[in-house]
Amino acid sequence: MLQSFVKTLTMPRERIVQGESEGDDENRQNYALRPTSFDAYIGQEQLIRKLRIAVIAAKSRNEPVDHTLLHGPPGLGKTTLAHVIAKEVGAQVYVTNGPALSKGADLVGILTKLGKGDVLFIDEIHRLPAVVEEYLYPAMEDFKVDIPLDSGMHARAVTLDLQPFTLIGATTRIGLLTGPMRGRFGIAEHIEYYTPEALHEILKANAKALKLLAEDTALWELARRSRGTPRVANRLLRRSRDFAVVEGNGKLTLPITKQALELARIDDLGLDEQDRAFLRTVIEVYEGGPVGIEAVAATMGEERDTLEDVIEPYLLQQKLIKRTRQGRATTQLAYKHLGLKWHPPTNEGEQLFNDE
Ligand SMILES: Nc1ncnc2c1ncn2[C@@H]1O[C@H](COP(=O)(O)OP(=O)(O)O)[C@@H](O)[C@H]1O
Ligand SMILES: [Mg+2]
Repeated sequence: MLQSFVKTLTMPRERIVQGESEGDDENRQNYALRPTSFDAYIGQEQLIRKLRIAVIAAKSRNEPVDHTLLHGPPGLGKTTLAHVIAKEVGAQVYVTNGPALSKGADLVGILTKLGKGDVLFIDEIHRLPAVVEEYLYPAMEDFKVDIPLDSGMHARAVTLDLQPFTLIGATTRIGLLTGPMRGRFGIAEHIEYYTPEALHEILKANAKALKLLAEDTALWELARRSRGTPRVANRLLRRSRDFAVVEGNGKLTLPITKQALELARIDDLGLDEQDRAFLRTVIEVYEGGPVGIEAVAATMGEERDTLEDVIEPYLLQQKLIKRTRQGRATTQLAYKHLGLKWHPPTNEGEQLFNDE
């Protein structure tokens, strides 16, 4: 039962609060907890309203829903939403991801299978190879695809008509998408971090689904410490449940929950060791910044991508760091959170919001 905790303690690089999935096992457990309709979808009210309208409008015109791009940090519900949209449309969904489509033929194979109104979901669409993207453009615009018959001087191609379909793309890195690709989506929406209220509601529903007896205060504690991320909330719920079975009588009480979170070294804001290491690096090594992300990555021995995709977005959202022209800088809040005395940064850069 305590296996997951022991694993966490002995493998410092595995993160309980990461938004990314831990793998098939977690996906299977989460599957049952996935909302399958707009009505059952908790949180993201604005986004759901827009998508609802898009679906109703498309249905009334008897056309597929506009191609839709969903972007935002991992674990917020992009994949879930793609399935919800397909279900609301009453269509089949075909799932693939950018790196899996290594050549044009891979994509053509899927495109020709699509029925009228079906949904093609491409996860990590920013990792789609350029050659495959070329096939996708006419497919998205005119529902046609060119298939080369032979190559060389007298290369010929046949053009195949496709059934009108909806492409749903998901990405954690909108900045890495090419302009032409981005421009071909009729709908492009950012998924925001969830409020504690929304996460509380999700946790309540999931505790019930797991037949877990839980104090409301315990669920609120989990909601506040889940980094605004449903996947993290579900994971913390399962870990706390395991803890309650081993250390308590199986009921999820507030003290049990707090102990479980403490053991996982997750603090009041939902930050874990790695988040705090990021803040400490900027503060202790770079005097609070501004400092380039490459320098932080090198000092921490981390990949720049990991910092940008997984660590930074939440720290930014919590206003613990900010982005400036000269790089990242910690805010007064970060010092306060770590219990350190604040020194205003010496060389504060101009604030930039779109420097991805
Ligand atoms: N609005 C929601 N309500 C309830 N659970 C959700 C919601 N959004 C996501 N989840 C849960 O979080 C998990 C991760 O969502 P997912 O769609 O895989 O995120 P992403 O594709 O953005 O990484 C899902 O398996 C589901 O259990
Ligand atoms: Mg996903």
